[in-house]
Amino acid sequence: MWQRIKNGLEVRIGLEDLINTKLKNYTVPRNTNIFYTLGGVALVAFIIQAISGFFLLIYYVPHSEHAFRSVQYIMTVAPFGWLFRLMHVVGSNLLVAVIFLHMLSVFFMGSYKKPRELTWIVGWLMLLVTLTFCLSGYLLPWSQLSYWTTTVVTAMPTAFPYVGDYIANLLRGGEFVSGITLNRFFALHVAFLPPLLVGLMVIHVFLIRRIGLSSPPFDESAEEARPWTEYRHVSYPNGNSFYPYFVLKELYMVALYLVVMFFVITFLPTLFLPEASNIPANPLRTPAYIKPQWYFLAPYQMLKLIPNKFLGISMQIALIGTFLLWPFFDTKKERNILKRPLLLATFTASLLLWVVLTMWGRSS
Ligand code: HEM
Repeated sequence: MWQRIKNGLEVRIGLEDLINTKLKNYTVPRNTNIFYTLGGVALVAFIIQAISGFFLLIYYVPHSEHAFRSVQYIMTVAPFGWLFRLMHVVGSNLLVAVIFLHMLSVFFMGSYKKPRELTWIVGWLMLLVTLTFCLSGYLLPWSQLSYWTTTVVTAMPTAFPYVGDYIANLLRGGEFVSGITLNRFFALHVAFLPPLLVGLMVIHVFLIRRIGLSSPPFDESAEEARPWTEYRHVSYPNGNSFYPYFVLKELYMVALYLVVMFFVITFLPTLFLPEASNIPANPLRTPAYIKPQWYFLAPYQMLKLIPNKFLGISMQIALIGTFLLWPFFDTKKERNILKRPLLLATFTASLLLWVVLTMWGRSS
């Protein structure tokens, strides 16, 4: 049966030639480490989000009167609804963690340098879109947590003179978070952001294939060391084939991702669903304290520490801009961060600061 399908495809699309030229003859460096698999894991994690989100959409009602109850229905009555909801909630947190790790490893290995600046920028845009996914998705269950977190976040633009109020009102569809905000965030979450992220992913993967994967900088190949004066595809004649070698490596890491996801779903199901997420939204009752998700805690804590809101938000925008355009600031050819003590020290200090701010934000 399988052989007949293969023969049928061979006659029609030249399957073997396709596999040979696109997968087997496409080579990756011999010494790729496990960090090279994180991009692929993020890709699979996103697909899991899309599939589980599709099943949630069957029962979810995007209306302020029904949203909370529809989510309760998914958790308690709809067949396997609890599983898809937990996959979606846990998956969103793990996806952000995987993207962070992918970005850190790309930074650590200097893979953002010429000729891969565009790959880095598109990656950053994907990170920002993913965070917008998380923010918009947070409001959808219409719980106390959803409502008040969105109230805090949508008030942020008001720190800016002239345009601030306009932006905040545009996001909320009025002066307060309401059913209109829910509809806007729902439309963003299911209709605008998915094609945007898919489009960015296509460009990201195209750039990676077109340029070729970078080799680890710790024992850089001669090909990578050659000056980049005109376009060429970076290939590794002595490297490993993408398929099956690299694909198998990716699959091991995807399996590990699934193990972590199902471990959390089974043993720590409420890890990302605190008490306030089980109480329906009440615009008249502000909860005692409200905290954003773990990945927003560091910027949130930073804003709390800087008394001037305008200054705090402007600093964060400047930080994002600097990181986004980092490959154009750091044009030194040396990719091995271990040979650049100042950059290594700044990288480690920034990472530590992020961890400290996150823990501080959690406990304060
Ligand atoms: C949804 C998010 C993302 C997905 C699905 C994704 C996917 C991928 C894949 C499949 C690869 C090739 C294998 C690898 O090196 O892991 C890759 C490489 C790369 N990614 Fe991403 N990525 C994402 C986010 C990011 C972010 C946030 C950045 C940086 C800000 C980034 C920058 C890069 C760079 C520079 C490379 C080239 C690495 C090399 O050639 O060695 N990516 N990405």
